[in-house]
Amino acid sequence: MNTKTYKKLIASQLNENFKSAVEVVEIALPQPAASQVLIKNKFAGINGGFDTLLCRGDVPYVNLIPPFDLGVEAVGEVVAMGEDVKNFQVGDAVVTTNRGGGYREYQIIDANSAIKVRETTPEVLTLMPTGVSALVALEQVGEMKSNEVVLVTAAAGGTGHIAVQLAKLAGNHVIGICGSEAKVQLLKELGCDRIINYRTENLGQVLKQEYPNGIDLIFECVGKQVFDTCVDNLAVRGRLVVLGFISEYGKNLEQVTQPRIYHQLFWQAASVRGFLMPHYQEYMPEARDRLLNLFYSGKLKVFVDQRQFLGIESIPTAVEYLLSGQNCGKVVVKFE
Ligand SMILES: NC(=O)c1ccc[n+]([C@@H]2O[C@H](COP(=O)([O-])OP(=O)(O)OC[C@H]3O[C@@H](n4cnc5c(N)ncnc54)[C@H](OP(=O)(O)O)[C@@H]3O)[C@@H](O)[C@H]2O)c1
Repeated sequence: MNTKTYKKLIASQLNENFKSAVEVVEIALPQPAASQVLIKNKFAGINGGFDTLLCRGDVPYVNLIPPFDLGVEAVGEVVAMGEDVKNFQVGDAVVTTNRGGGYREYQIIDANSAIKVRETTPEVLTLMPTGVSALVALEQVGEMKSNEVVLVTAAAGGTGHIAVQLAKLAGNHVIGICGSEAKVQLLKELGCDRIINYRTENLGQVLKQEYPNGIDLIFECVGKQVFDTCVDNLAVRGRLVVLGFISEYGKNLEQVTQPRIYHQLFWQAASVRGFLMPHYQEYMPEARDRLLNLFYSGKLKVFVDQRQFLGIESIPTAVEYLLSGQNCGKVVVKFE
């Protein structure tokens, strides 16, 4: 291998704005230690929300001090390995999901942390950790059942489009919320029972009129008024899972004054539950294998957004693009 150096994106300072926090650096390519593999990343998944919060210093469970590495999931090819590594060969396609392992051309990790996949295609990046988060949030936190009404916000996004299909596969009536006609078309393909484009229909009115008994399970990624409307429409014993609040990432948090949330929850015996994948790590391997099986057997359709981002330098623009809400499916960046 002739390559001597490689590029990665680091957060060199904390900043409200992702672009202002990061810089591209070029560093020497290391040699893998005995139990490690060296991977040439081909594609990485963009997690614009998490990236922005990280660079603002607003992710309390990691509390990183700059400079630190960025990016999480990547799919790539094994290019070298240490002498103790027996279960990989040069050329194997692998996915990795280590924090700091995504936004770089090469990475070295312990061989046990690499997951073999069939090909280095970007589609597998919809599954882990994104799809895994959707599965674990629905099942473990949302206690997903069958024959219930399930509502998914940001339903045509990277996380949402997997959640929609898992809720359908479990035998539920699924409502998908989205913000454009292109996303409506994608959600039709996924078999959503009711699609609400919040730019052309009023979410609260539709839910009150068409679902007077409320929603049993809500997969909520957006926050602000969408969250308020969702809480307002929970069924008796309904569960709302908070996956995120993307409408407030990169902004100062809105201060609200209204009666405390227990007034809404108590009379419905409903609940609002937070979900954060790092706190549910023990479910990851089974969920990942199940998703890979669903994908390879054609039971799960996965969508990668069509907008092309090429190279480490394009990542800040990809993050901005994701936060602009235009994407359909998972946003990825391609390397080389
Ligand atoms: N808790 C966890 O462990 C975990 C794991 C994975 C993801 N997440 C969360 O899941 C959510 C989705 O993440 P993702 O990476 O898959 O992104 P994504 O859904 O592919 O893209 C974000 C989508 O959010 C929607 N959105 C609604 N209001 C928005 C606003 N004001 N600004 C920007 N976007 C807005 C947009 O779709 P519409 O306009 O169609 O609504 C946009 O396409 C995020 O909140 C993320 O933090 C959480």
